Parts: sequence; C-alpha cells; structure tokens
Amino acid sequence: MSKITPTSKNSAPTAKPNQNADALDASTSPITPAKIDWQIDDTGNRVPVSGEFDDVYFSHADGLAESRHVFLSHNQLPERLAKLKPMQCFTVAELGLGTGLNLLATWQLWRQLRERHPHLATARLHFITTEKFPIPLADLTQILNLWGRRAPELTDLIEQLLAAYPPLIAGSHRLNFFDDNLTVDMWFGDAANSFAKLTSDTALKTNPHVDAWYLDGFAPSCNSTLWAENIFAHMQRLSRPNTTAATYSCAGVVKRALKAHGFQIKKVKGFGRKREMLTAIMTAVDNEETLKNNGASNGTSSNASNNTNSNDNANKDTASLEFLNNKVLDNKVFNDTDITGDKPIHTAIIGAGVSGLSTAWALANRGIKVTLLDKSAPLAGASGNPRALLAPKMTPIHHVDEHLHTIGYLFSSRLYRKINDKARQQKTAPVLEPTGALDLLMKANIGTEQIADYPDDMATTLPLEQAQNTSGLQSQDLSDNLYLPQSGLVNPQALKNIILTHPLIHFQQLDAHDISETGSQVCITGSSHHTKSLSITADNVVICAAFESHQLDSRIFDCRKIRGQLSWFTPSEAQLAHLPKIPLKYGGYCTLFTEAADHIGSIHALNHQPQFLLGASFIRNDTDTELRNEEHQVSREKLVSAIPEMASIIPADTRQWQGRAGIRTQTPDYHPIVGPLVDSKRLWVISAMGAKGYALAPICAEALADMMLGSFAPLSAAMLARLSPSRKRLQTPLTP
Ligand SMILES: Cc1cc2nc3c(=O)[nH]c(=O)nc-3n(C[C@H](O)[C@H](O)[C@H](O)COP(=O)(O)OP(=O)(O)OC[C@H]3O[C@@H](n4cnc5c(N)ncnc54)[C@H](O)[C@@H]3O)c2cc1C
Ligand SMILES: C[S@@+](CC[C@H](N)C(=O)[O-])C[C@H]1O[C@@H](n2cnc3c(N)ncnc32)[C@H](O)[C@@H]1O
Repeated sequence: MSKITPTSKNSAPTAKPNQNADALDASTSPITPAKIDWQIDDTGNRVPVSGEFDDVYFSHADGLAESRHVFLSHNQLPERLAKLKPMQCFTVAELGLGTGLNLLATWQLWRQLRERHPHLATARLHFITTEKFPIPLADLTQILNLWGRRAPELTDLIEQLLAAYPPLIAGSHRLNFFDDNLTVDMWFGDAANSFAKLTSDTALKTNPHVDAWYLDGFAPSCNSTLWAENIFAHMQRLSRPNTTAATYSCAGVVKRALKAHGFQIKKVKGFGRKREMLTAIMTAVDNEETLKNNGASNGTSSNASNNTNSNDNANKDTASLEFLNNKVLDNKVFNDTDITGDKPIHTAIIGAGVSGLSTAWALANRGIKVTLLDKSAPLAGASGNPRALLAPKMTPIHHVDEHLHTIGYLFSSRLYRKINDKARQQKTAPVLEPTGALDLLMKANIGTEQIADYPDDMATTLPLEQAQNTSGLQSQDLSDNLYLPQSGLVNPQALKNIILTHPLIHFQQLDAHDISETGSQVCITGSSHHTKSLSITADNVVICAAFESHQLDSRIFDCRKIRGQLSWFTPSEAQLAHLPKIPLKYGGYCTLFTEAADHIGSIHALNHQPQFLLGASFIRNDTDTELRNEEHQVSREKLVSAIPEMASIIPADTRQWQGRAGIRTQTPDYHPIVGPLVDSKRLWVISAMGAKGYALAPICAEALADMMLGSFAPLSAAMLARLSPSRKRLQTPLTP
C-alpha cells in the first residue's frame, strides 16, 4: 500500500504540487499510463490513488455517493435528462475520466430514467471525457470490480465498460452502447489539446454544445493543468446559455476562472468532509460579454449569440437564478436545446456498400428513419467480398492521435465485436472473427522499433518461435513482424444481415439517376427492376455510391478507380495442413475462411469447407468486374514470392479458382470524402474508402451522423477539414 496520506481532493488541499507530474504535462503522445497506488478509505475499502499526483480519484467517504452529489445532482441531471424530447441529445463533458466512476453513475441514472420514462426511448446521452494518464485495463478491472461488489447496480455497466475500454493510444475513442442510447467519447491526451479539437462551429443551424460539465481534476494544488486558463476558455467556447458546471472544488482560482468565462457561480453544500462545492451556469449576457472581453472571435461568440435573442436572454437569466437556487428547472428553460422543430427524421442513402450500411446504422441508432437504396443489391459493389481483413495502415505513434486509419480501425473493431453480441442473440453468423493478423512487414511503413512504442493490445512484435507457431510457417524469416491482436476477418454478409434487421432501416432497390434539393426536402428519381421511374423524398440524402458518386452530383470529386480481384480455392486436406493458420499481410494478404451456407453475391461457396483466399490485384482506371485468370496468377505470384514455402502448396493451375472483382475509389490525397456538399443543406457524401473500407467507413459514418444532427464528432476539426468534400486538394481534377 502507498505511503501517501494527504487526500486533498476531499480534504483541505494540503498536498504539495508534484513537480514530476507537472513535467509530464509537456509530452502529448505516446500516452503515459496512470500509476495506481492503493489506500484504505474511511469505511475500510481498498481505493486507488494516483501515484503521480499524490491525490485520490474519488472521495474516501464514498466515491459513488460523491459523484452523484457533486456532478449529477448539482448539474440537475435527474430533472434535465427526464425532460429531454424524443431524439434530443444531451452532452456531458468531463475533465478527468480516471476510474470512470462518474461515467458509470451517469450511465446508471440514464438507464433508470429511460426505464421510467418511455418518451426517452429515442433521446441520447453523449458523454465526452478526457484523460491524459489513462488507467491500464488490468488496474481498472481491479478498481471497478471492487466497485461492482460495493454497488451491484453497476455490475453490468462495469462489464460493458471494461469490454469496450480502448488501448492506451492518444486521440479519440468512441464507445457506443446501443441498448442504452449512450455514446462515450474518450479523448486520451491533454484535456486542453483534446477540447481544442472539438469543433463547435459548423455550417449547421444546430451547433454542437456541451450541456453539463464535470470539473473533476485532481485538486488544483496537486495538478494545475485541469484548472488552467485555456481549459476555461474552451469550456466557454463549447458552452452556451444554460450550460451548467459542477465541481467539488471551491478554490479561488476555480471561482474566478468560471466567473471570468461567462458562468454565474454558487457555493453549495459539499460532499462528506468538504464543507462547500461549486455549481455554475452560463448566462447569455455574461457569456457574450466575456467572450468579447476574452477576444474570442473565431466564430465561437456567434455560437452563443446566434442561438439567443434578447427575450430569451431575460428568461434564461431568471432560469439561471432558479438553477443556482436549486429549484427544479422549468421545462421551457431547456427547450433551447430542443431540435424537434426542424429535426430531420428521414434520410435516404444511395449505395449499400460498407459506407452506406455504416451510415444507415449510425443514423438509425440516433432515431432517424433510413431508406437505403442500391441500384442492384446490398454489397453489390466493392464491399461484397466473402471476407474483408480488418487491419490498419500503421503510423509512428507520435502521429497516432490524428491518424484516421488507427482511430477507424480501433472503432471498427469495437463496433463489429459489439454487433457480434447481436448476432449471438439472433443466432446468426458473427460479423467479426477475431483471428488477429500477422504482418510480415514487407511493404509496411513502420518497423519493429516503432511497433515497440505501441501498447501490446494494439500492436506488437511476436517472438520468433511464437510467430512461427501462430502462423504455421516453417521456413520464413519471421524475426520482424507486426502482430495485430484486435484484427480479424469481417463477414460482410453477416454485417449486412444485422444492419438490415434494424427496425428503422428499409432497403429498396433503386438505380438513382437524379437528385434535386428544395428548401425543405430532397427528391431522388431513378428506376427499379419493376418500375421505370420512381421518386423518393427525404429530409437528407447521403451519397455513398463510391466511384459513381460524382455522376449523381458534380460537386463530388471524380475519384481514381482501381480494379481489384480477390481469389480463393478449396484446398485439399494435405494443402490445408501447410497453409498459414492466421491472416497474413505481405503486400497482398491471404487467409483461410469457412463459409457457412450463406450466399456470396451470386457465388455459392461450398458449405463449411475451408477456403483459402488471397489477393488482391490493383489495376488503375479499369472498372470492368469480369473475373480474370491472369489476376488469380498475379495474386498467387505475389504470395509465393513473399513466402517461397507456399510455392509447393498453392496449386499453379488457377483456372478453377473462384474470385470476385470490385472497384476501389481513391482520392489523390488518399483521404476519404466525408461531409456536406458545398452550398447544400441536405446533401452529404461518404466515399473514397480506398482499400480499407471496413476500417474507415464506420468511423466516417459516425462523424457524418454527428455533423448532420449537430453533435460533437469523434474526429478533430482538423481531421474533418482533411475529409471535407470541398477541400482544396479536390479542386483540381485528376489527370488521366
Ligand atoms: C479486391 C478487393 C479487396 C478488398 N479487400 C479489403 C479488405 O480486406 N479490407 C478492407 O477494409 N477493404 C478492402 N477492400 C476495400 C473495400 O472493399 C472498399 O473500401 C469498400 O468496399 C468501399 O465501400 P463503399 O460502400 O464506399 O463502396 P461500394 O461497396 O462499392 O458500394 C457502392 C454501392 O453504390 C451502389 N451505387 C452506385 N451508383 C448507384 C446509383 N446510381 N444508384 C444506386 N446505387 C448505386 C453500387 O451498386 C454499390 O453497391 C477491398 C477492395 C477490393 C476491390
Ligand atoms: C480526480 S481524477 C478523476 C476521477 C474520475 N472522474 C473518476 O470518476 O474516477 C482526475 C483525473 O484527471 C486526469 N488528468 C490530470 N491532468 C490531466 C490533463 N492535463 N488532461 C486530462 N486529464 C488529466 C488524471 O490522470 C485523473 O485521472
């Protein structure tokens, strides 16, 4: 047990500032994991304390009761959440995730309220939290299992949180808990840097804003960074009138900073041994004035002022006094966050590949009715291979927080595992087979030294013997390798089947020819197998038609088109014994898979017989999808020259092989295209997934759904700009 005695977060702040901890603030990535020490609290329970900051994560009187008192009650969450309108989203932002206890308490309250109030069925809770020193999973498991014993009502939530807890990688990690309409964004890294990445300024009528802040840094005397000027400036930028804040701290620095950044504050009774705590509310008048005084000019002041008028301000000032006097809030006080008036309720999506399916899923889980269209069938395009490998393109760890491939890969891996739970309930095939994957680093942009910077649960190098056993390769030099434990094989048909069972998603076959936008809706006209001309109207349209997207709207970049053919054959028993046991990457990729009785487009694989899949060819400016034997040969040759021992195993005659060809869509800067079309309020696009649609499309779909509905996206403002359909790089057409 630690020798730490001062427990400054819930007693007088007597601990000395820790110089080492302040020094740590200079680094951004890679992430420094928290160092956990243990103490015995007032009631004899083992509780964690921070080894860096000499401070407690939560009160030694009763952490859960403290969380409910300070953060939930004094942001008036029970009343405010109960009053949400259908499809309304309420955003909580927390400084310091720590053990996740505040998150769990909030989640449990939200669950209780949703059970009690049927009108909350489509309302959503978005919990954004920041953490510079995340607790390693093993410690967190120990900490939360102790809480599970003390508070059994949290057990199920703890299990779900631990199952979704991300590797300790800088940047944003989105965790969706679909059954509870709860989205959690964990931003690992310095809080000020993370908040700077959140955009509150969009072209939309409803800009994202935080509704309630949990200020839960260690005591200001131990760790000043969470109470610094830039933190309060971001709070002000991301808040709007009636946003509230609560903190256990009554330190002068906190009071002054809140007041200076547009909040009215009030001291109220603290928890446990703490006499007082602070509660605060942002008022329209104060915020406009202080934003002006603080020189905020990058569109953030308009965020506050655009949403209010002088009459509203008068009402809100009365409301804020009521809030500070702890009166239950009047319904009208919070109806400024109500988006029911011009809320989009129906979206049409053109194209049912992984981009269209992911977008449908993201929108339907936010209560939007989706009509998903495809000119032939779901997965008719590039997405319809029998299996896709979920694997990232890696980057040196110092760039990881702004690296879409990493963020997308980790998100997809979490999402597919979550959907696997649904598949299990529905007794259908799993979406992700969690095989892991081994990259032989033949065409990789990262070496073993850089891999060593990564946490092992994201990427590691296997010792030689283990690499040989895992892969089954006998003669290959495997001393350099990249093992990806979260990687696996995606079954696109299984993914499609689950997504199309969502009650709000309706698939319709339609070849879209034309899209016209009016002030209040969008109309798609096209033809189907049964009808020559058909129109569909919706509030929004998302174009997910890959390389054909520009044909539907000329504002979309006409991308590079790259044909690719995947090949597979049924190995004999003898061949099977020598084929790789795990998906391998070597410039191309290969894997065994076993198809169940489901169809692969028009191709029927042999039931339950293992197939060996290898690919893929890359042929620019070719949109033909006929199978070609010479491309089977190309893929065979790629494998054999990378792994010579395969030459005697893989048959040389490929004429009986099966295969599937599709067209990849790629931009000149290799980034996907995600966002609104210029000068349009109702037309959006997700395209250009290149060779990694199964890793990139789900996170892009989340970001797009957030943009459409005015919530905070799980990607930085800079990243959203890099993905924008109107970015500069897409202004010049490709030269042939
Ligand atoms: C051989 C090969 C192997 C690959 N392997 C992998 C892999 O292992 N892992 C991975 O992550 N990625 C892989 N990819 C890349 C991945 O398949 C793509 O990135 C992804 O499929 C793109 O998805 P999408 O939904 O944007 O496009 P698509 O899947 O092409 O979907 C576009 C859809 O739009 C429809 N459409 C077009 N025009 C219209 C219209 N006018 N009206 C209605 N519908 C229309 C089409 O019918 C099509 O279904 C591979 C690609 C190829 C070609
Ligand atoms: C009091 S604890 C939070 C307790 C937490 N809310 C809970 O429920 O367990 C404060 C947290 O802030 C984190 N922290 C400290 N400095 C930070 C910074 N600059 N940015 C983000 N998080 C920081 C600490 O690592 C610690 O986990």
